[in-house]
Amino acid sequence: MATTVKLNTGALMPIVGLGTWKSKCKDAVKTAIAAGYRHIDGAYVYHNETEVGESIDAMIKEGVVTREELFIVSKLWNTFHRKSMVRPACEKTLSDLKLDYLDLYLMHCPISFKPGDVDMPLDSDGKAFGDDVDFLETWEAMEELVDAGLVKAIGVSNFNHEQIEAILNKPGLKYQPANNQVECHPYLTQEKLINYCHSKGISVTAYSPLGSPGRPWASADDKPLLENPEIKAIAEKHKKTTAQVLIRFHIQRNLITIPKSVNPRRIEENFQVFDFELTKEEMKTLLGFNQNWRAFTMGTNHKNFPFNAEY
Ligand code: A2P
Repeated sequence: MATTVKLNTGALMPIVGLGTWKSKCKDAVKTAIAAGYRHIDGAYVYHNETEVGESIDAMIKEGVVTREELFIVSKLWNTFHRKSMVRPACEKTLSDLKLDYLDLYLMHCPISFKPGDVDMPLDSDGKAFGDDVDFLETWEAMEELVDAGLVKAIGVSNFNHEQIEAILNKPGLKYQPANNQVECHPYLTQEKLINYCHSKGISVTAYSPLGSPGRPWASADDKPLLENPEIKAIAEKHKKTTAQVLIRFHIQRNLITIPKSVNPRRIEENFQVFDFELTKEEMKTLLGFNQNWRAFTMGTNHKNFPFNAEY
C-alpha cells in the first residue's frame, strides 16, 4: 500500500499527515515527526504557525529530518482573498513557519471575508461579513506564488465541484488545483465530489477523519463516530483501534488524511495504519454509514457558500 499520493505536479504527498487545527501543537509536531509523519497540515487561521515552525526547525536542526523530506501545507484565510493581499499573507505564513517554501498552499474556503484584524467579521445578523472577491482572482494571485517559488503547488479547500469547475474553466488558467481538502469520514463520504476530483486529476484530503470529536460546538445529541459500535467491531476484528480503522478507510480510497492529536500515544497510534487492510465488505459497511452529516457547517449566507450544491 502506497504511503504517498502523486499530485498532478508530480510531487508525492504523504497520505497521512498531522492536523494542527485548534491545537497547542509544539510538542505534537515533534512527536509526529519522530514517529515518522512527514506531512504537517496547518493554516494561518489556526494561529499556531509560529509553534509549528519552531518544532519543524528544531527537528531539522537535530538531524531527524530534512526540509526536502517534509511536506508542509498551509492555507490562505478568507480575509486575504483580494489579489494584493495573497502574497503578503503567504509570506507571513512562511516567516512564521521559518520556511522558504510551502509544499502546498490551499485557498481555505471559496468565501471571502471583509479584510481586517478579525478572522470572522460579523454583520448585524451575526452572519460572517462577506467580501465580494471572485475566487478566480484569488486563484490568479496564488498562481503567482508558484511562479515566485514560494509554494510548490496550490489547491483549494471546502470547494464544491461547481467551484472547482469554475477554476478549471477559467480562461488563461496557468495551474490546475492539485488538491481539494474537505471534511470526510463515514458519516460524510463525499463519493460524488471525490469521484469528480479524481477524474480531473485533483487529489483529495479528508479533514476531520475521526468526525472532529473535539470541536467546541459538539452537541450532546451528536453520535460520535469513534463510538459507533459497528466500527468498533471492525476494529476489534483487526486488533486495531476505531481511530485506526477510520484513518485506514481513507487510505484505501486513495485519500490523504490528516488526523489531529496532541496526545503522544494517539499521534503514534494514528500512524500505525499501514499494516492491515479493510476488506471490500468492511469498506462497503463504512461507506454505508453516510448521512451527509457535517461537523463543519460554516454559518454564512455568502454567495459562494459551498455546501448547498449537491456535491
Ligand atoms: P487528542 O488531541 O486529545 O488526541 P479530527 O482529526 O477528526 O478533528 O479529530 C481530532 C480529535 O480526536 C481530537 O480531539 C483528538 O484528541 C481526538 N483523537 C485523535 N486521535 C485519536 C485517537 N486515536 N483516539 C481517540 N481520539 C483521538
